[in-house]
Amino acid sequence: MCGITGYTGVNQAGPILLEGLKRLEYRGYDSAGIAVQGDNEIKMLKATGKVSHLVDKFEAEPDFKGVCGIGHTRWATHGIPSDTNAHPHLSADGKFAVVHNGIIENFAEIRAELQKYGIEFKSETDTEVIVQLLAYNYKGNFKKALMKTISRLNGSYAIGVISAEHPGTIFAAKLSSPLLIGVGIGENYFASDITALVSNTKDVIDMDDGEVAEITPDAVKVYDHSGNEINKEIRHINWDIASAEKSGYEHFMMKEIMEQPQALKATIEPRIRDEEIVFEELDLDMKKFNRVHITACGSAYHAGCVGRGIIESLCRIPVEAEVASELRYRDPIMDDKTLVIVISQSGETADTIAAMKECKEKGATVLAIVNVVGSSIAKLADYCLYTWAGPEIAVATTKGYTTQVALLAMFAVWAAGQLKTISHGAYASMVIDIMRLPERAQRALDLNSRVKKLAEKYYDNQSLFFIGRNMDYAAALEGSLKLKEISYLHSEAYAAGELKHGTIALIEPGRLVVALCCYEKLFEKTVSNIQQVKARGARVLAVAHEGNRSIFQEADDVLLVPQTDPLLAPVIEIIPMQLFAYYVAKENGCDIDKPKNLAKSVTVE
Ligand code: AGP
Repeated sequence: MCGITGYTGVNQAGPILLEGLKRLEYRGYDSAGIAVQGDNEIKMLKATGKVSHLVDKFEAEPDFKGVCGIGHTRWATHGIPSDTNAHPHLSADGKFAVVHNGIIENFAEIRAELQKYGIEFKSETDTEVIVQLLAYNYKGNFKKALMKTISRLNGSYAIGVISAEHPGTIFAAKLSSPLLIGVGIGENYFASDITALVSNTKDVIDMDDGEVAEITPDAVKVYDHSGNEINKEIRHINWDIASAEKSGYEHFMMKEIMEQPQALKATIEPRIRDEEIVFEELDLDMKKFNRVHITACGSAYHAGCVGRGIIESLCRIPVEAEVASELRYRDPIMDDKTLVIVISQSGETADTIAAMKECKEKGATVLAIVNVVGSSIAKLADYCLYTWAGPEIAVATTKGYTTQVALLAMFAVWAAGQLKTISHGAYASMVIDIMRLPERAQRALDLNSRVKKLAEKYYDNQSLFFIGRNMDYAAALEGSLKLKEISYLHSEAYAAGELKHGTIALIEPGRLVVALCCYEKLFEKTVSNIQQVKARGARVLAVAHEGNRSIFQEADDVLLVPQTDPLLAPVIEIIPMQLFAYYVAKENGCDIDKPKNLAKSVTVE
């Protein structure tokens, strides 16, 4: 996600801001920029790509001088990654510059209003409205103009603003987006993330929603939403850089597992209006298609397997899911009546790109579900829906997968609404269940300490099985991959009913079988498979819905997750499996964030 930072003091701001931006790199970004006040004007530098590109530009500009400035790393949301869309953004009169982390939901309305007054916008971003509105509101009083401006903004923001007319002063404001003020001696700072501050100061002020800070070299004043000055405590932190980047978690994977409620919320909420699913970016007539083909790799393919079940069930249209590395060489039968859904967290997976090109050549329409804005897959697709999971650093995807499944479910309900294959009641009930996914994911995370204990019990099983039926089987595929990729244990996912056709030969005393039992329609069937493996000495760890009492008679250990619609269950039941994989890998001393032989983005065949 975006990162912001700022400095005011006696030293040159450029190198300090660039250092802060380097510290924010771990969060993922696609462009960066800085602005400083100098000689009664604002000077800006921006670069697409790495912060090092920005450093090169800075080093080539000896006149880029100023002792007060702001900086930003951008993770594109509104508008492609480009120098123009990179922050800071400057007001049309050149008097103000802003950096922003968050999303301004009513930007289109404000933009249209300002355009009527003849104000010209340069970028495609939602952020630019902040600085243009600020300049419009400015009548000589910086604070007043800022307070008036933020009172118009809906959505989330952490912003830092400088003005050519107020040397040495930065205003920073926050609503639903993190913001900290760093307190120094004769110099002060702000940042969205502690990592950008810890090498300069360990004394911070935590900003709360609705508060505004006026930061000068010698003072930090904090105001409430009405502009009254308030007292804030200074907190001393003792984190080092590495722990700060992970928000105190030992690994990015755990941080990202814990971020899932927020990632789901960001993916779901903006697309539900008045209890309806709205995809502004999707001008697609579903009646045109007689089949859907889903393709992706790894976990994204597993999300596709869940998507197949949901789309087929709700839209009553044939759906296939296939790994991209197979599809690309298979000369698949498809034409202009085929909708191909490609799924990719990174948007750069080579096999997925090749498969989608193959499908396009055959005349299919391609809809991409992607996390990284402006990535190759997002650009190549006819249509694109973004998961708003934020940057994922750990090689093993977690929030990438759950947001993909949530978005596929939303697409299925939306498409079924268009095709009239879903009743009003079922539509409304699915929307409610989708909206409740973040809260249910949070409750599933409450199993953390219990899962840790189970991992301590089972970590030395050298070979495991994940079984399930229907949607549970789709989730089992992902649970098994999670475990094998970070713990290096042999693990297989099997359709529970298929075990008896051969694989049951591998079940021996002590073998751990993880049985996913949330698809209640087939619960009794899965139970009979549990009994078959138990009869051969296996130990069974079951994941079932809260309220399921009978599972306790069948399994050795049980994890109960919040109940949801059976089609959505994989989003919730995968969470204890992610935690299980994490703790098993930890017990086995594995390098969790960077497992051997794996890369985050597989950009080669
Ligand atoms: C997931 O944990 C893996 N790292 C891997 O399977 C991954 O999902 C796959 O390589 C696809 O990546 P993508 O989503 O970026 O296309």
